[in-house]
Amino acid sequence: MKDRPAISCAIRHAFGWLFFANLIGVVMALLLVFPQAGNFLGGFTYGRWVPLHLNWQLYGWTSLPLIAWLFSIYEVDRYSKTSAWAKVAVAGWSLALACGGLSWLMGHSSGKIFLDWKGAALWVFLAAQVGLWISLARALRKNTGEWTSWARLLRGLALAFLAMVPFSLWLTTSPQTYPPINPSTGGPTGASLLGSTLTVVALLLLLPRTLRLTGTPRSGRWYVALWVFEFVAFILLEWRGGTHRQIEQILGLALLIPWVWLIPRCLLDFTWPKETVFWRRSALLWWGALVLLGWAEFLPGILDRMKFTNGLVAHSHLAMAGFTSSYVLLLSVALGGRKMGELLRRGSMLWQGSVIVYVMAMIACGWLEGAEYSWMSEMPLWRTALYVVRLLCGLVMLGVSWQWWWGNIYGRKLDEA
Ligand code: HEM
Ligand code: HEM
Repeated sequence: MKDRPAISCAIRHAFGWLFFANLIGVVMALLLVFPQAGNFLGGFTYGRWVPLHLNWQLYGWTSLPLIAWLFSIYEVDRYSKTSAWAKVAVAGWSLALACGGLSWLMGHSSGKIFLDWKGAALWVFLAAQVGLWISLARALRKNTGEWTSWARLLRGLALAFLAMVPFSLWLTTSPQTYPPINPSTGGPTGASLLGSTLTVVALLLLLPRTLRLTGTPRSGRWYVALWVFEFVAFILLEWRGGTHRQIEQILGLALLIPWVWLIPRCLLDFTWPKETVFWRRSALLWWGALVLLGWAEFLPGILDRMKFTNGLVAHSHLAMAGFTSSYVLLLSVALGGRKMGELLRRGSMLWQGSVIVYVMAMIACGWLEGAEYSWMSEMPLWRTALYVVRLLCGLVMLGVSWQWWWGNIYGRKLDEA
């Protein structure tokens, strides 16, 4: 990663957060196997640790590589001044995550999953977001002469859109906007799952183009047309509402299935650097599994059995530890170059293997839990065994993330030969 200090800084921080979030995950898995261990933790009960695990994975591990991607799009590393600003923004972001961690441990939370920000921690996080926005705006102003008018316009529009993020976070975290537990909903509709996944589809389609990869891509027009058609379908279906028992909701979610084939077709039209092969294949395989299993999970009979069980914990880890992590690892290697590719290849099979076993163990656990409810009053052996399997997988994932962060990336000059 030659002369790209801000990008490399954001990626380093991301790996640090992966390690700390996994550490908390292991503490939680340990508490679920040995609840008596909670006696040593005093007031820091299980529920206090959960937001640290979730938010550090989301806003640390999976968001910072996206911030590095923004740095690359806005070319913040072209000048040392804009690069320095961007590095300060990354430090501010990590400071906010540390403040958040402290505040959740102390029991301050809005009560909303992934939107737990409250009080001082919320304001530090909002300030970090504004700082990041300013660093991108400075880069836009400074680099403006280097880009075509079209490229300038797109970056300007994207920045205008990003300006809304702090305000929407402030609004959605507030219990006044909508309550933490909404009695009028039993969960997301097929349409809302379609809508949120279409954002992921857009990020996948944008990746090769924003990385300026060459190749012989087919016209993007058909992809855009299909995406817009599905987005309109999402709005209409969401407006009608419904549950997983209605055929239009099931078919609406099935609109994602063609992307299992279309996303690889689009990405493989480009010439990717050799070092990205492993993570590209992993991301695409996880993507296929996520869409197909996610859709199957929505079907009546299956969702009824899996809801409120570890079946959904399996889904969350398939989506985030499997697919999203492979995606941000691909991004890190694509931005970081050959050396980064080499460093992250070590331990990669161990990571994927342990995520697969983790997910399979939790699918089995969820399926058995849905069959009969006696596990709620007693801890059957099959459940303890599957929790131990999860704990062991977690320890391997923790080891790999330590190796990636501290062993391979931290303090290393990534542009060395
Ligand atoms: C990167 C993409 C995705 C992420 C990060 C994600 C994450 C999540 C999370 C965190 C939950 C809540 C789990 C819980 O309540 O314990 C969930 C629920 C669910 N997701 Fe996903 N998901 C993704 C993509 C998908 C896709 C593509 C589908 C289907 C094709 C899908 C189908 C579902 C279903 C059916 C539920 C359960 C809804 C309910 O509670 O009624 N997800 N997802
Ligand atoms: C060391 C590896 C990991 C371990 C041991 C671990 C463990 C756990 C545990 C014990 C839970 C709580 C389940 C419950 O309350 O019943 C959980 C939830 C969750 N974890 Fe992890 N985790 C790990 C890695 C990850 C990674 C890498 C991600 C994302 C990138 C992630 C995202 C999540 C999410 C989204 C939930 C909420 C699940 C839900 O409510 O359905 N975890 N994890």
